[in-house]
Amino acid sequence: MVSDLSKVDLPISKANGLPNSHYVDESIFQKEKEILLFNKWSGVAFSKDIPNNGDALPINFLGFPLLVVRNQDGEVVVFQNICRHRGMILVNEKKNIRGTIRCPYHSWSYNLDGNLRATPHVGGPGQNAHEDINKKELGLTKINSTVYLGVIFVNISGNAEPFEKVNRNLLSRWCEFDKSLFYSNTDSSFILELNCNWKLAVENYCESYHLPWVHPELNIISKLEDHYNIQEKNEFSGQGSYVYRQIEDEGKVFYDFDGLSSKWNEGAEYIAVYPNVLLGVHRDHIFSIILEPINKEFTREHVAIYYAKKESTEATFSQLRKQNFSWWKSVLKEDIFVVEGMQRGRHGKFFDGGRFSPIMDGPTHNFHNWVAKEFI
Ligand code: FES
Ligand SMILES: [Fe+2]
Repeated sequence: MVSDLSKVDLPISKANGLPNSHYVDESIFQKEKEILLFNKWSGVAFSKDIPNNGDALPINFLGFPLLVVRNQDGEVVVFQNICRHRGMILVNEKKNIRGTIRCPYHSWSYNLDGNLRATPHVGGPGQNAHEDINKKELGLTKINSTVYLGVIFVNISGNAEPFEKVNRNLLSRWCEFDKSLFYSNTDSSFILELNCNWKLAVENYCESYHLPWVHPELNIISKLEDHYNIQEKNEFSGQGSYVYRQIEDEGKVFYDFDGLSSKWNEGAEYIAVYPNVLLGVHRDHIFSIILEPINKEFTREHVAIYYAKKESTEATFSQLRKQNFSWWKSVLKEDIFVVEGMQRGRHGKFFDGGRFSPIMDGPTHNFHNWVAKEFI
């Protein structure tokens, strides 16, 4: 009765979900770390976390030390956060760096593009150079990165195809939102802690089937029948709604993105970008979610709301922003008991991965299928 991966790869009406081991087994968690997260384009931080040139943010992503930097040209660059001399961690806490990134151990210093600039006393006291130390070869190790809808994605292994190629269908589907985004520091991000494997948060986000029972308030505005499935084999999945209602305060609403087609007047879409990023787009704001897997049964969910226009982030919109913040926070909190309940359910050894609704669970099966294909 226990499921295996070949059953996940069947057509949905015959398929089982992923085996329990993908949620509770440490060795599978470690394999998934390499195969699904380090080998793909994973979200690790938000662009709003490093708003100014010179901002540097250290991140420990599943034990891998990263340094996310906004260089002097305003571009995001990501390095392994390790000095090329003796392997010391370079930056321990978020800071703004005006000059160089200086290692606290022996003061080797790198510019914000990762080039090694200074190696004090490397050739002996007072000798800051040595013929065997070629600075050109000793820059920081760069990690491939890109920014999309406010999320900084990295491909740690360096083996993935370019982000734009992997996600070309998503980029074209949502090209109308690929613009400057605006963020309000005071009321636009929060973190939820989930006692579950990171994949359960992806699976739950993908589908609208649970709406009537888990999100009764949302279901009043946007009902189950107002939703449609989104699924792109081996790429992404999610759901859309035909009934997005803007938050309103005495007739005041947020500003829209420029040039949107009429589809978005009342439409919204919610897509899981595999492996660990969840995105939602609306005419006046988007939100981006990064699922940070901490261990096989614990995940930190980082949420950031970005607005379409700078005006929407100003003080005159603070009341409206508060409402929007509370709305999304309460909706996302409503999902916690189901992802945690499913996690506990994965400890029942007779569970066979479950049977999907052939109509309602396509997006979830699409994700399981992607995971299984990477493993088989
Ligand atoms: S380890 Fe960084 S300078 Fe020595
Ligand atoms: Fe939900």
